[in-house]
Amino acid sequence: MLAIGSGRIGLALQRSAAEKGLPYRLIERTTGWDLLEEPAGEPILVLTRNDDLAAVLDRVPTERLSDLVFVQNGAMREFLASRYLPHATRGVLFFAVADRTSAIQVGANSPVCGHHAGYVSQWFTEAGLPSKGMDWARFSLYELEKMIWISTFGVLGDAYDKDVGTLAEHHPGEIAVLADELRTVGRAVMGVDVELDWLVNRMCTYSSKIPRFRAGVREFAWRNGWFVKKATEWGLPQALHLELLKKGGHWPS
Ligand SMILES: NC(=O)c1ccc[n+]([C@@H]2O[C@H](COP(=O)([O-])OP(=O)(O)OC[C@H]3O[C@@H](n4cnc5c(N)ncnc54)[C@H](OP(=O)(O)O)[C@@H]3O)[C@@H](O)[C@H]2O)c1
Repeated sequence: MLAIGSGRIGLALQRSAAEKGLPYRLIERTTGWDLLEEPAGEPILVLTRNDDLAAVLDRVPTERLSDLVFVQNGAMREFLASRYLPHATRGVLFFAVADRTSAIQVGANSPVCGHHAGYVSQWFTEAGLPSKGMDWARFSLYELEKMIWISTFGVLGDAYDKDVGTLAEHHPGEIAVLADELRTVGRAVMGVDVELDWLVNRMCTYSSKIPRFRAGVREFAWRNGWFVKKATEWGLPQALHLELLKKGGHWPS
């Protein structure tokens, strides 16, 4: 496995790979890019933040583009389509790494879809991070779930200054309302219909597994801002989402 980006996830995976004896070669901002001149076929995890993706893609040789595996949170579909990669291998990471030296906290199975799904899900599982390969349609449910989770707990985290475990325990009503507002956007724009009880249950269970993680509104255009923009375009209501964004000073931006 190759990986680009030596941040929290990139370094945590490096430690797990070393511990379990798994193949892993890390490409950093200024080193290792010659590895991409090798013949195509080895999956390449892209472990940079969303705003850095364009710069990373510009450095990847065309013949290696089909080896890329995207694991970013947030709305990725339009970006990937704009780079002619709508069917790239993708993963949703249901684990958290708080900083560059922290251990990985596992919250749930991490789904993977696409060309390299089998290899990547097996690698993650052997690294101690349960993972499952699946088709794109099933993956879409988890894709939307994680988008909604990070946006919901992000806006609530900033509004109340509480970690995700405390929010799941003490703010179930607001979580359900936000999940409903945001899933309505996902249904309209992405054509993904997630059942509300299933969604809220999974979101709160995941939060209870990584309870001390403090989410916040970050990477606005890819997360909360994407939901706001699409809801506006589609004429969908988002009363609580907008109210909490205002309360946290995130809207109007
Ligand atoms: N952390 C989590 O708990 C978590 C959980 C699930 C999903 N994710 C997703 O995983 C992705 C990575 O998250 P993270 O927490 O590891 O982020 P991070 O700690 O901010 O690390 C990002 C890394 O990308 C590197 N980078 C940026 N531009 C680059 C470029 N052009 N070439 C090479 N490297 C470049 C940065 O390099 P420098 O060190 O040189 O700045 C940094 O090391 C994000 O999209 C995030 O949404 C994270």
